Amino acid sequence: MKSLSKIDYLFPKEVIVSVTSRCNLRCRMCDIWKSKKKELTTEIWKRFIDDISAVGVKTIVFSGGEPLLRQDIFELIAYSREKKLNVCLTSNGTLIDNDIADKLLSSGIGVVNISLEGPSEVHNYLRGGGSFEKAVAALEKLRQRGIETTVATVVSRYNYRYLKEVIKFADIYGATTVKFQPFSNLFLEDKTKRDKFFLLPQQCEYLAEIIESVIYISQKRGISTNPPSYLRKMPLYFRKGIRFSKGCKALFYSCPVDSEGNVFPCWMLARKDMLIGNIAQDRFEKLWGSNLHKEIKRKIFSYGCPGCMMSCYDEIFDNRHHNSAKIRKLLGISFYQRKLHNLARMLKSFIYFSILRIRFYTRAKLTFRNKLKRVFTHLKNRKVRINIKIEKKEAERLVKEIEKAKRVLKQYLEES
Ligand SMILES: C[S@@+](CC[C@H](N)C(=O)[O-])C[C@H]1O[C@@H](n2cnc3c(N)ncnc32)[C@H](O)[C@@H]1O
Ligand code: SF4
Ligand code: SF4
Repeated sequence: MKSLSKIDYLFPKEVIVSVTSRCNLRCRMCDIWKSKKKELTTEIWKRFIDDISAVGVKTIVFSGGEPLLRQDIFELIAYSREKKLNVCLTSNGTLIDNDIADKLLSSGIGVVNISLEGPSEVHNYLRGGGSFEKAVAALEKLRQRGIETTVATVVSRYNYRYLKEVIKFADIYGATTVKFQPFSNLFLEDKTKRDKFFLLPQQCEYLAEIIESVIYISQKRGISTNPPSYLRKMPLYFRKGIRFSKGCKALFYSCPVDSEGNVFPCWMLARKDMLIGNIAQDRFEKLWGSNLHKEIKRKIFSYGCPGCMMSCYDEIFDNRHHNSAKIRKLLGISFYQRKLHNLARMLKSFIYFSILRIRFYTRAKLTFRNKLKRVFTHLKNRKVRINIKIEKKEAERLVKEIEKAKRVLKQYLEES
């Protein structure tokens, strides 16, 4: 294997820490609170903050669970500020009264991200009665104190019709950004619940239209959102699931740490066999530069990852595949290793296909001449089928483009 390249020694720009798995809410789409994970002491988190600031990390995001349930959260925020880090806090907003808002202000927080799922009935159905009123009150209290706020929305079957309303709420309550995150079963213990949240195929078409309006309205109102190309992939995500990816830049630029101090390559791959180490046992610099971490990254870039649409990584979404190729090259996964891997996959499927065919021809009662004829016809048909498939796809794409242009034009005419 080639010697390691410079990219392996880059430290992340952003660290996302889940400081607790405790939560005061019981949202329908999230079971984090059930995990009852242990928590690290203030001292260990402070040592970690020292470490990340020393290696040039720019931003720390405090998340959870509900991070405001930790008594020392303001101390941790203030300490991060002392170490010149940008600080963001992600919260459900329900605990932010005047006192907490004052404490957030004096801790020097940069941005508070509040989760909002849509209008009151929808939000309260998903997050529990009264949580909407508390969340918007939190946005208002933070605005009064001049603290920048952003909004996060988990897009699912329950709220996809109300995405425009979220933009409007954000505008009314002075939030600068809305980040839409398609539902993922990552935070659910019972993965079968996924089907309740995923959109049905006909709903995906409607979602595509809603997304165009969201892009238009957010631009008009001056609210930032995820990149349009990311938003436009959402219907496809719900229809087919974005299944396969060969890793992305998130593995280099972002680092998740759970409430027990475990460091993983990304949130989607936060599982035992991907564990890089623990910040309570080792210093961050050692973990990030470890051979184990390099090996895990190589594995992901060689064999692929589940792929995801995590909104924290949306800015790199566009370049994901392009960059993957570059990174693979930099990581020293040689051209021949990849070719070999692909060849092995092709060979496997060819053998499987051939076995099925042979089984069919040996069982069918045909003369040798007829069998030969069927093999040729089959191969010919297969080629034709592939060509038709490609042309059909291209035609579908063009129809979609025309529909999109029509919608934009219609909207433009209506507005003007
Ligand atoms: C786990 S929460 C922790 C912070 C805080 N308790 C909150 O709700 O904002 C972090 C983010 O994950 C989002 N989230 C929760 N369940 C999700 C799911 N099933 N799929 C995608 N995102 C989810 C939340 O909406 C929130 O924006
Ligand atoms: S989404 Fe946030 S508020 Fe809701 S249960 Fe999960 S951690 Fe708690
Ligand atoms: S695409 Fe998603 S799952 Fe794959 S490496 Fe990137 S963040 Fe992780």
